[in-house]
Amino acid sequence: MVTQFTRHRRTRMSPFLRSMVRETELSKNDFIYPLFACPGKNFKKEISSMPGVYQMSVDVLVKECVEVKNLGIPAVILFGIPPVKDEVGSGAYDPNGIIQQTVRAIKKEVPELVVITDVCLCEYTSHGHCGIVKGDEIVNDASIELLAKEALTHAQSGADMIAPSDMFDGRVKAIRTILDQNNFHNIPIMSYAAKYASGFYGPFREAAESTPKFGDRRSHQMDPANSDEAIREVQTDIEEGADIVMVKPALSYLDVIRRVKDTFHMPTAAYNVSGEYSMVKAAGKLGWIDEQRVMMEILTSIKRAGADMILTYHAKEAAKLL
Ligand code: PBG
Repeated sequence: MVTQFTRHRRTRMSPFLRSMVRETELSKNDFIYPLFACPGKNFKKEISSMPGVYQMSVDVLVKECVEVKNLGIPAVILFGIPPVKDEVGSGAYDPNGIIQQTVRAIKKEVPELVVITDVCLCEYTSHGHCGIVKGDEIVNDASIELLAKEALTHAQSGADMIAPSDMFDGRVKAIRTILDQNNFHNIPIMSYAAKYASGFYGPFREAAESTPKFGDRRSHQMDPANSDEAIREVQTDIEEGADIVMVKPALSYLDVIRRVKDTFHMPTAAYNVSGEYSMVKAAGKLGWIDEQRVMMEILTSIKRAGADMILTYHAKEAAKLL
């Protein structure tokens, strides 16, 4: 209702007034920081398309986790680059694999930090696909058995939360079942529930060395044109036992985040993915945008859309500003 007395600007006239009517407040508690573990010692290599993001050997990564915790960020999510890759992604479920070693090292040095592990095969397979390939098909049921094995070894290594990112059917149920059978009924699952086949993952695939050698991920990841389908995907994951549901990427899918939050009222995560980060970094470097301001605006928009938590490569920079 507009009356002759309406002046929207009255509550915008000073910083304190604006803070009183602010609807969305970012917090360090919202952030989950992605990290890339690789073999070696005292090794740290910047990803060329992601300034400020590194592949790190386990010793360096543990030190990074101390810094993350000291900044007040509650959680990290881990991706692994194994020493060797093969057709069936053996490194993913090797009890002494790169992620399993990394989790044990972090839990020893920084036990309070919440350690989430990404569960997928794409970093571990020689062909770069998220599961087993037969002919030109990425096979569903044989793949989810391996993903469940991978999740179990992560839990056995001390992971606090399991995050399947593969988008095969039935994986949440398979993982929940194997965790419960092995006494890990208190380990939550954060499922990449509505994950789109997106061009925004390009820089990540450089970081994780997981670009498919042939074909693409369109037979399991979602079509960017679909939103009702996201609701069906999320519903299935909740029914199979997901505790937190994720929408990924974030920025082109703010409408999906809002729908998921309003439909299910579940703890909802959004992944502010690599390409979204790289665009901000590139434009900032060129002086075309105010990088810090744009970063905070983007993170606020993701939270405003309904995300309770944000996986973001900006986490450390943003935490320093909060
Ligand atoms: C693994 C996985 C991917 C990302 C997270 N987990 C890549 C993919 O699906 O190809 C992307 C994250 C990012 O772009 O930051 N399946």
